[in-house]
Amino acid sequence: MSKKSQKFEGDPNTTGHEWDGIEEFDNPMPRWWLWTFYATIIWGVLYTVAYPAWPLINGATAGVLGWSTRADVAAEILAVEEANAPVNAKLEAAELTAIAGDAGLNAYAVSAGSAVFKTWCAQCHGSGAAGAKGYPNLLDDDWLWGGSVEEIHATINHGIRNEDSDDARYSEMPAFGRDGLLEKEEISQVVNYVMSLSGAPQDSAQVAAGSVVFAGNCASCHAGDGTGDRSQGAPNLADAIWLYGGDYATLTETVTNARYGVMPAWNTRLTEAEIRAVSSYVHQLGGGE
Ligand code: HEC
Ligand code: HEC
Repeated sequence: MSKKSQKFEGDPNTTGHEWDGIEEFDNPMPRWWLWTFYATIIWGVLYTVAYPAWPLINGATAGVLGWSTRADVAAEILAVEEANAPVNAKLEAAELTAIAGDAGLNAYAVSAGSAVFKTWCAQCHGSGAAGAKGYPNLLDDDWLWGGSVEEIHATINHGIRNEDSDDARYSEMPAFGRDGLLEKEEISQVVNYVMSLSGAPQDSAQVAAGSVVFAGNCASCHAGDGTGDRSQGAPNLADAIWLYGGDYATLTETVTNARYGVMPAWNTRLTEAEIRAVSSYVHQLGGGE
């Protein structure tokens, strides 16, 4: 229930609202507040006329000033492209092997290549290019397909085992277990033999039999001594650097089901200058030949 009004002599009228005995004076809004309020309304209306504002089914009203961040970005990109056009043309015209020797061109290629790498390659090869299971480390000199700048360029250009490019690098390791080419026991033997190649602890009783299995089934691709064959992208198995893993379980999985690593072709989405730049970048990471 409302208590007796606390209104004193000279107080303004109340609005008639009352909560727990607290009443509200019916004071007019302060002028400064009111004018600021009107000013914001006028500002708001002018703003929606001047700048993109009202949503439409496709897009929005453009605003009479024609301001657009999209157009700004497009203009900036165009300006950068125009500024880079001469050096990109030079990059495309150069002999691949000559790029590293031209200090200015090389510096441009490596920094542009680093940007390309972060955008297009890092999700698989890692932002520092150290790779991950199934995605080769590009920092070392252990190459599946070749570490000269020409080989790197060819790998990036056409990719590996993809359907994008007819010139993609291609080879296929048989799935020895799944396709019944080797018995479980033979797989165990050859896996122990492979482990012995890099000095990993292995069941030495199986190594001799494993070497026979290796010579008959694996040497054609991985070479007699297990050091691999770049023309087939067959990894070196003797260097303790593993694409998928060198423990018994992972090796058994690799030999049983095979792997078939795929990399997209980049000539369908990058310019030749970008591919050359990223090839230069990868080549100078540490393992380039
Ligand atoms: C979708 C994942 C993926 C992306 C993206 C990708 N790669 Fe690869 N890349 C691979 C795989 C998988 C292999 C190894 C394939 C194999 O087993 O032979 C590989 C192999 C390579 C090799 C060969 C390494 C060697 O030892 O011979 C190079 C060089 C390479 N990538 C560079 C790049 C560059 C540069 C980019 C970005 C333009 C890129 N990759 C983007 C998956 C990817
Ligand atoms: C037709 C050629 C071919 C034959 C034959 C072959 N391999 Fe391979 N092997 C490859 C290729 C190519 C790869 C690369 C992996 C991929 O497919 O992505 C590979 C990968 C491997 C790997 C993974 C290495 C790593 O770094 O993780 C192992 C282990 C391996 N092979 C062992 C064997 C053994 C053992 C045999 C015989 C029983 C064999 N391979 C027969 C072509 C061959």
